[in-house]
Amino acid sequence: MVRIIAFFVGLGFAGVLLISLVIGVVGTIQSPTEPTAEHEFHKAPRELHLASNGPLGHYDRAQLQRGFQVYKEVCAACHGLSLVAFRDLAALGYEEPEIKAIANQWATEVPSVNPETGEVATRKAVPSDRFPSPYGNETAARAANNNALPPDLSLITKAREEGPAYLYSLLTGYATQSPEMLRKFPAVKTPDGLYYNPYFANLNFAMPPPLVSDGQVTYADGTKATVDQMATDVSAFLTWTAEPKLENRHRAGIAVLIFLLIATILGYLSYRNIWAEAKRKVAPKGVLDPENKARSEHAKDEAGMAD
Ligand code: HEC
Repeated sequence: MVRIIAFFVGLGFAGVLLISLVIGVVGTIQSPTEPTAEHEFHKAPRELHLASNGPLGHYDRAQLQRGFQVYKEVCAACHGLSLVAFRDLAALGYEEPEIKAIANQWATEVPSVNPETGEVATRKAVPSDRFPSPYGNETAARAANNNALPPDLSLITKAREEGPAYLYSLLTGYATQSPEMLRKFPAVKTPDGLYYNPYFANLNFAMPPPLVSDGQVTYADGTKATVDQMATDVSAFLTWTAEPKLENRHRAGIAVLIFLLIATILGYLSYRNIWAEAKRKVAPKGVLDPENKARSEHAKDEAGMAD
């Protein structure tokens, strides 16, 4: 009796599975998944060659300084770098007086308290301050940016897949929507106040194009400031802010690999040394090494003489 009930329960389960499979297959055939504009028009980042790429990569200090200049003159109007202090710029090759001057002249002052009255105030930055956000808080930032929040850029190249290449592509990737796209997906027309950018995940980006014309910054080292160059340099700079110790990591990695290589060679040689004696003893009739062969032949001769 129990067996018959179990059989019917099993049959019931199998039946339900079969029915849901049939419904699923019919549903997929009748209404296949709609293609989306994001699926069709989103682009993967373009390749970006930076000196810091690869296991032996190192930073190009001149490029980092140019990238910092782009950040300072363009991006800092909307984005802070809350994890980087002015004094960290020493790693880019700036001298102490230069860093003091950069902090002192920074466009955004640092929140503070008036020591005499106790009122909320601001003061000029000093080298130990972090790069301040240009907005008091998130509400103020959204109010100034069409309700979008400009993220802190300290770690942005780590927070996005293929960070530096993504950033570079994003900065140089603003475009207009093609008529073909609008014909196919009329609903994805970029709303007012947003900008079409095929490298941004949902294609419509709230950041106005920040790098718009060649010569927007004047590089101190005389490099020609094309949009492409500025985008590359600021991507390099933001790679540094996200990983200032990259060069140490690469150096330590190489040292560890060399150490492991030497340790492996030493290990192999000592293995040979330790087991050499044992192998000689085990080898059947000295086939493994001539010296042993000679010895065993000698033994054979002696045995023969004893006969
Ligand atoms: C006028 C203000 C403004 C300026 C100037 C500006 N940004 Fe933005 N940025 C924004 C806003 C607003 C967002 C948020 C956009 C969104 O969420 O759609 C944003 C977002 C970003 C993002 C995040 C993209 C993502 O994947 O989420 C990056 C990276 C970025 N900006 C880099 C830069 C760089 C580099 C510069 C300087 C070359 C710069 N921005 C200049 C306003 C600005």
